[in-house]
Amino acid sequence: MNVPSLTLNNGVEMPALGFGVYQTPPEETVAVVETALRTGYRHIDTAAVYGNERGVGEAIGRSGIDRSEIFVETKVWITDFGYDSTLHAFDKSAGKLGLERIDLLILHQALPGDFARTLDAYRALETLLANGKVRAIGVSNFMPDHLARLAESTSVVPAVNQIEVHPYFRQSELLADDAARGIVSQAWSPIGGITFYREGAHGSTLQDPVINGVAKVHNKSAAQVMLRWHLQQGRQVIPKSVTPSRIAENFDVFGFELTAAELTAIDGLDTGVRGGPEPEYITLDKHGIEIPEA
Ligand SMILES: NC(=O)c1ccc[n+]([C@@H]2O[C@H](COP(=O)([O-])OP(=O)(O)OC[C@H]3O[C@@H](n4cnc5c(N)ncnc54)[C@H](OP(=O)(O)O)[C@@H]3O)[C@@H](O)[C@H]2O)c1
Repeated sequence: MNVPSLTLNNGVEMPALGFGVYQTPPEETVAVVETALRTGYRHIDTAAVYGNERGVGEAIGRSGIDRSEIFVETKVWITDFGYDSTLHAFDKSAGKLGLERIDLLILHQALPGDFARTLDAYRALETLLANGKVRAIGVSNFMPDHLARLAESTSVVPAVNQIEVHPYFRQSELLADDAARGIVSQAWSPIGGITFYREGAHGSTLQDPVINGVAKVHNKSAAQVMLRWHLQQGRQVIPKSVTPSRIAENFDVFGFELTAAELTAIDGLDTGVRGGPEPEYITLDKHGIEIPEA
């Protein structure tokens, strides 16, 4: 099964369905990513701060799949922001991944209180792009104001903005802003992983009656319905799992279509409540973590 692709604003093709490895323990990462690649995933989303880039690289190397067929994405953590330190962050990530070139390199967060440093980090990504070290560059957790400030001072429009999007937190305005700027919205926690341990009425999206009602009609799971909802609305998705049966289940999402009414019903579940940290309050003091050398 070939996953359909999305064309980024610089012409690079990215699979519409990728595989996330946040919280995948480093010692399990090789086996988990090998399973994902065997299942058919051709896009892996990791990050310097996840501590498992080495495992991702090892699985890619062992897979025997041609490097050109696998789209590798990683993220620069805020501790490495700054022109020279972000150039060096590429060396650290590429070294751990065992790759000469990274397909998509993004800034993991903005540093709203030190935006000059965020801009310097992004300028380093522009240099890496110009030098052919990366095929595309982007951002994550950037709000409309951050995107506007970035556009004022830099020349390359981010190819993607990786943001929290699931049925309980749709971020409609941000999605519209990304689209207006030609940025692909990449949904993190696409099946609402961040909601699973929440108490109260809008706890796990997996238990939601509307989503389960739609799932029953199509004889699919709640997770598959959520992934279809994103894909049909043009978002890229990167579900995470360490469980082989779920890795397979999340890949099996191209043989059915949700109706317009079903998509609208899922849109209606938005609570406006964010699960992840508020992007405006990310600071080096609170969130700084040293990223080891390769
Ligand atoms: N840029 C950012 O700031 C940011 C933040 C968070 C995440 N991300 C990226 O987005 C990826 C996905 O987000 P996420 O990991 O938070 O959430 P997610 O993919 O929505 O959900 C992951 C959770 O769902 C479980 N699961 C997976 N498939 C399932 C299925 N078919 N049925 C039931 N449960 C299932 C997983 O359990 P098992 O693993 O135990 O199977 C795990 O607990 C991450 O891995 C990472 O690459 C980025």
